[in-house]
Amino acid sequence: MIVCSCNVLSDHDVRGVVTDAKQPPRTTGQVYGCLGCSAQCGRCARTIRKIMNEALAACEGGCCSACPHAAAHSEAIDSAAEAKIDVAA
Ligand code: FES
Repeated sequence: MIVCSCNVLSDHDVRGVVTDAKQPPRTTGQVYGCLGCSAQCGRCARTIRKIMNEALAACEGGCCSACPHAAAHSEAIDSAAEAKIDVAA
């Protein structure tokens, strides 16, 4: 599914760059950069962030300590926890 109409990026593109990179992007801006583009209107930023968090959290607990994405995983988990707190407040 296309999640960024300005740059014609799909959810698969975003997931791929997050899960396949040795140093996964930590910001939405880095995702655009890894995919060879940049934010235009910015309407997709929240969706891209959500896909990033889901992709990184998907292997929470399933990764070994040698996982190259460990730092990004903990950021995703922290971000998801903050989002739940914001919703609850
Ligand atoms: S929809 Fe992604 S930058 Fe406009």
